[in-house]
Amino acid sequence: MTDTLKRTHTCGELGINATGNTVNLTGWVQRRRDHGGLIFVDLRDRSGLVQVVFSPGEYQAAFELAEGVRNEYVLALQGKVEARPEGTRNPNLATGDIEVYATRLQVLNQAKNPPFYITDGVDVDENVRLKYRYLDLRRPEMQQTLIMRHKVTMIMREFLDQRGFLEIETPMLTKSSPEGARDYLVPSRVHPGEFYALPQSPQIFKQLLMVAGMEKYFQIVRCFRDEDLRADRQPEFTQLDLEMSFAEPQDIQSMMEEMMVRIFRETKGIEVALPLQQLTYREAMERYGSDKPDTRFDLELVDISDIVADSDFKVFADVVHKGGQVKGINAKGSADMPRRQIDELTKYAAIYGAKGLAYIVLSAEGVKSPIAKFLSEAKLAEVIQRLQGETGDILFFVADKPQVVADALGHLRGELARRLDLIDSDVYKFVWVTEFPLLEFDEEEKRWVAKHHPFTAPMDEDLPLLATDPANIRAKAYDLVLNGYEIGGGSIRIHRREVQEKMFALLGLPQAESEDKFGYLLEAFEYGTPPHGGIAFGLDRIMMLLSRRDNIRDVIAFPKTQSASDVMSNAPSPVSEKQLKELSVRINILKK
Ligand code: AMO
Ligand code: AMP
Repeated sequence: MTDTLKRTHTCGELGINATGNTVNLTGWVQRRRDHGGLIFVDLRDRSGLVQVVFSPGEYQAAFELAEGVRNEYVLALQGKVEARPEGTRNPNLATGDIEVYATRLQVLNQAKNPPFYITDGVDVDENVRLKYRYLDLRRPEMQQTLIMRHKVTMIMREFLDQRGFLEIETPMLTKSSPEGARDYLVPSRVHPGEFYALPQSPQIFKQLLMVAGMEKYFQIVRCFRDEDLRADRQPEFTQLDLEMSFAEPQDIQSMMEEMMVRIFRETKGIEVALPLQQLTYREAMERYGSDKPDTRFDLELVDISDIVADSDFKVFADVVHKGGQVKGINAKGSADMPRRQIDELTKYAAIYGAKGLAYIVLSAEGVKSPIAKFLSEAKLAEVIQRLQGETGDILFFVADKPQVVADALGHLRGELARRLDLIDSDVYKFVWVTEFPLLEFDEEEKRWVAKHHPFTAPMDEDLPLLATDPANIRAKAYDLVLNGYEIGGGSIRIHRREVQEKMFALLGLPQAESEDKFGYLLEAFEYGTPPHGGIAFGLDRIMMLLSRRDNIRDVIAFPKTQSASDVMSNAPSPVSEKQLKELSVRINILKK
């Protein structure tokens, strides 16, 4: 038995100045090619690829072994670095100026033929990629993503450490509480019939750490929410969570801006200009129809309610008289849009509740519009002017309740930008959205719910409205939005018992329930709680945007599918009768 060759170099680091060196390499076979008596093996490790040459004769043993290697075999080898002959250099490969002439070879392990070729940009069904995730993660682009994720968390830790933040862990087995998303529950064996909940976030614990005098806390932490999944939502996801005592919103926001500058500089070489843009929630909704506006393109919403309120177009006039709105978007230079596309956009807007999509085409031959006949010439001109319409433009309008107008036109903005190719994919646009409403009326449950969470403090000047006008209370809350994604959200918290109790009462939580679920927090507030606030970032979303992916699954080593399963290990899965019995749990599958 000879010892395994000990690696002296990584594959990707070898360049022309290593010429003449004897090196030991380890890695996987990317490809083997036989060429007139020579065998070429592309050897891959995490750092990259290098070409290894086996020739018969002097190193016959290595050559013969190499004849048997296949893709993904694991090798250790020794060889001499040589400059590649002129004309055979590969400028597309970092190590393309050299090759390694093998003198010794050890096959450390064989490999079955993998279900897909391990290389970037392969078109493989995602379920297959997820089932063989360990092979998918061998692909350089996946490795780069995880390497960048590591870098980002290192920057975050270093940045916060330098500013006096302490990384403190909080429990994963916690108490289920109302409000928020659905919990993942864990049955207790020791307490039959009782359950822990996996944390949706460490919100209450981090506030208690402020009561505990820790002053500055952070954690890179897993959170669990049993919600409908989307491209930017996983059932378990990671937050950079932090909290600070004696802080105002500006303190937290400006510190987080600096952190973003460092992350973008050190991972992408991009200089983010500070301060970041700020929009109040109201402005964001008015101008973009969204509280997470994509500000990489304009297509802003323009209100024409006042112009059409007393027009002959009944649809518009009625909506305005019932307290609704009519707003429009100018799709600049798209007057030649075919009718079929307009119909598609109308269907698209309908997904978000729009009952129609009125339009005015400003073509060279004049105005074409199904609604022009209902508007006087003066009003038509006023509408066009309000939207800064020029020949060549097409104007789209939705009339409805403000929420529907915002939702339909807010989404239409994005769809138009994609169709009209208005999005520069190299650009990153941050915007803080501030002054969120504290509460939102849940039409289904017929009660107020917290827009952010029930621990968010109202703005001081809006405190009197708690009793009189809940709808108009603004919160000391802020979200950080990047390219139309909410990447972080936080707030200054309530730190007085009586205000927190008022908040629970507003949310319709009976006193007994708020005492049962949150009594420990209310009690803590009575022992000298400092004013405090914080924020949490969705690390997966930040990584998705940094690595220019459109799904957070691609930046998570072992993600779940859209139906919250792990297709590799087959979780979730049934458990044994014995386990259920121990937990005092009986299964009762309800028919839908
Ligand atoms: P919030 O619920 O806004 O705030 O969450 C903070 C950030 O976490 C990310 N995020 C998600 N990412 C992936 N999958 C999900 N299912 C998911 N849900 C949320 C988003 C979001 O901005 N405790 C508060 C923070 C605070 O007030 O300090 C909280 O959890 O990027
Ligand atoms: P109608 O009178 O129903 O034929 O509608 C005339 C035009 O107004 C059509 O282009 C419809 O798409 C549009 N329209 C109808 N209802 C609305 C609405 N609520 N908002 C915007 N456009 C509408």
